[in-house]
Amino acid sequence: MNIRDRRVLSAGILAACLAAEILFTQILKINIVYTHVFYIPVFLAALWWGFSWGVALSFGFAALHYLFGFRSAPLEEAVRSAVFFGVGTSISLLSSVFRINREQMITITRENEKQAELFRNLFENNPDGIVLCDKQENVIDANAAFLEMFGWNIREAQGLPLADVVLGEAEEYQNGVALGRRIIEGELIDQKVTRYRRDGAAFPVSIVGVPVHTDTEEPISCCVYRDLTDLQRSYEKLRSMVHSGIETFGQIIEQRDPYTAGHQKRVAELALAIARETGMRDDEAEGVYYASLVHDIGKISIPAEILSKPAKLNEMEFALLKGHPEAGADILASIDFPWPVSSLVRQHHERMDGSGYPLGLRGDAILPGARVIAVADVVEAMASDRPYRPSLGLDAALDEIASGKGRLFDARAVDACLALFRENRFSWSAAAVEGVSGKY
Ligand SMILES: [Fe+2]
Repeated sequence: MNIRDRRVLSAGILAACLAAEILFTQILKINIVYTHVFYIPVFLAALWWGFSWGVALSFGFAALHYLFGFRSAPLEEAVRSAVFFGVGTSISLLSSVFRINREQMITITRENEKQAELFRNLFENNPDGIVLCDKQENVIDANAAFLEMFGWNIREAQGLPLADVVLGEAEEYQNGVALGRRIIEGELIDQKVTRYRRDGAAFPVSIVGVPVHTDTEEPISCCVYRDLTDLQRSYEKLRSMVHSGIETFGQIIEQRDPYTAGHQKRVAELALAIARETGMRDDEAEGVYYASLVHDIGKISIPAEILSKPAKLNEMEFALLKGHPEAGADILASIDFPWPVSSLVRQHHERMDGSGYPLGLRGDAILPGARVIAVADVVEAMASDRPYRPSLGLDAALDEIASGKGRLFDARAVDACLALFRENRFSWSAAAVEGVSGKY
């Protein structure tokens, strides 16, 4: 091969490489993300394309030599050139594949890193405590808020059972373990529970737990803890305000009827104890307590002379007095309590056999809470001094409800009340006793 042929050959290789590279770069860019460089069809395709280009260009140059009067290229030189073209172009194409693939991989890695950083920031800077656990409920990772909430550092917490971190040696330990298992098994958990800091201090939290499933790894659980201490304090404050408000409301009537001073407070304490003894739910028992605190508020509509009359009431006066449950219910109806306070007040003089007032309701038509208040009301009233008589004594009061058990009074409420007094499990608080000058 002479010098001119070599130059032509070099120019041909260069042109083929550039053309093929441009072409393949554009084609491969489209699907390179999904194409592995060692995927055999890609390799063969690249080789074939390169070789075809090489052969075509080689014969093209041979034809140019001939047409423009150069020395005609022998056939073996044309074939050799084709091989050079083919191999050169193939190498160029494969290098393009590698280069593009690498660029794509770098881009993908950067995207992944950006996403990972975003999620890491969301995880770390979240004001709620977040903890990730493996299938065995051991801590994999936890964010700063979680660690601060429970008083741990990540090195100590990692690998420990979550229940050890959030419950320590608390009674609820097994419940906590069971909760974690439910999450791993696919249940979504949203609960308000008590958990424990590392120093053993209990505090209220809300937990939202979700299972996290991936295609390749075992499921893990992600739990988000929110410290409800501040919320609980606000709730307690509000509750205390509601309590004082209702208590003050109840005292209005006691100002007009000094003989019953403290009566509602004492009924409320006893009714709450009876309600709990009968197994009533806490929130329902709370409603019974607050309704008891104002159960005689309707007496505000009754003349003070009748309320404090030092003798038994005549028929007309008694008829007026019997209007107080309805009047009280009307007063309370407009207040949006979370319990049926108005209905409880209306029904506190109803009796199981329908002999009560104002509606003459029977049995189950009377609210369970009202049946409890009825028992507490009778016991407290009989055990206290009244304008028209001195105290009949606690024993007489208990005999009265025992004799009316099932007929006048709810049997469960009566049994609960008797059990509380006979087993010395109930006594009125000092504040409630004050109203009757240390009577109890
Ligand atoms: Fe009453």
